[in-house]
Amino acid sequence: MSIYLVTGGAGFIGSNIVDELVNQGTTVRVIDNFSTGHRENLQTFQNRVDFRELDICNLADLKEAVEGVDYILHQAAIPSVPRSVVDPISSHNADVTGTLHVLWAAKEAGVKRVVYAASSSAYGDSEQLPKEEAMRVRPISPYGLMKYMGEEYCQLFTSLYSLETVSLRYFNVFGPRQDPTSQYSGVLSRFITAMICGQRPVIFGDGEQSRDFTHVSNVVRANLLACHSSKAVGEVHNVACGERITLNKVVEILNRLLGTHLEPVYEPARTGDIRHSMADIKRAKTNLNYSPTVGFEEGLRQTVDWYRDYLKRPKNKAY
Ligand code: UD1
Repeated sequence: MSIYLVTGGAGFIGSNIVDELVNQGTTVRVIDNFSTGHRENLQTFQNRVDFRELDICNLADLKEAVEGVDYILHQAAIPSVPRSVVDPISSHNADVTGTLHVLWAAKEAGVKRVVYAASSSAYGDSEQLPKEEAMRVRPISPYGLMKYMGEEYCQLFTSLYSLETVSLRYFNVFGPRQDPTSQYSGVLSRFITAMICGQRPVIFGDGEQSRDFTHVSNVVRANLLACHSSKAVGEVHNVACGERITLNKVVEILNRLLGTHLEPVYEPARTGDIRHSMADIKRAKTNLNYSPTVGFEEGLRQTVDWYRDYLKRPKNKAY
């Protein structure tokens, strides 16, 4: 039976992928160094996976963990645009050097395929909408550049060493287990938890910036499809819903879902922030047979329910 390795498996997206793999009865190995992941995220599958605490920056440990593995779903990263602006070195080590280590260890161990968590932030400030994979990328943050470098490494490993790789450019993923507690947390986790607690959400800028918010279940499906599609090898794919919504509209919808009337607090826009983001998802449809199954509002409802439970647990709080 095939062995799947999920890097960053204690993180938000990684742990959702592990859940699905375990539900499907596959053999799963998980690695994480808990730099941004949480032990709590391992609870649902703790005894059903081979968990190893290690840092992908440690090549020797990583090589050991990759032995015997068939597929790697590489989610480990320091995932934040503003954090990468404040501290590009730590992000570079995890996101670029770490990815190179994963690819090298995979090549050395004869892994069948590496699926790489790329990011829509690679598109940067180009004005074209929707964003197509064939466009020239123009990252405007260290994070966007680093995630793009990871894609380039993947493609190089495919052409140079015949290691099968598939890159998935995620667009603003949200859903259960996204950590709301850091200043770098994804915007929806911050808005939802604040508003459940009766606090006004903080919008950086005028709130008219828009994003293609993608429920994590769509991203999980894309990853599993990417392991087995022959057309996808060596390619980059947008993974999103193909729609965009402004932050002002998000607050309006959340007020409706929660039965609240909370006005946002507006603060200055973030450095390195982009204005609009929306994906063209034709390539993922063609190559991966991907289409989003959970839309924005349905995903938001499920996520609100999840955070309601989360906030009832001791220790958990809004940001
Ligand atoms: C970016 C990437 C995304 C990547 C993510 C990792 C783009 C389009 N997206 O997301 O692919 O996975 O980084 O972190 O580049 N905001 C508020 N209030 C808050 C928090 C955020 O108004 O409390 C605003 C931000 O300024 C931004 C928007 O909400 O305009 C989204 O922010 P965030 O969730 O951090 O994601 P991106 O930076 O868009």
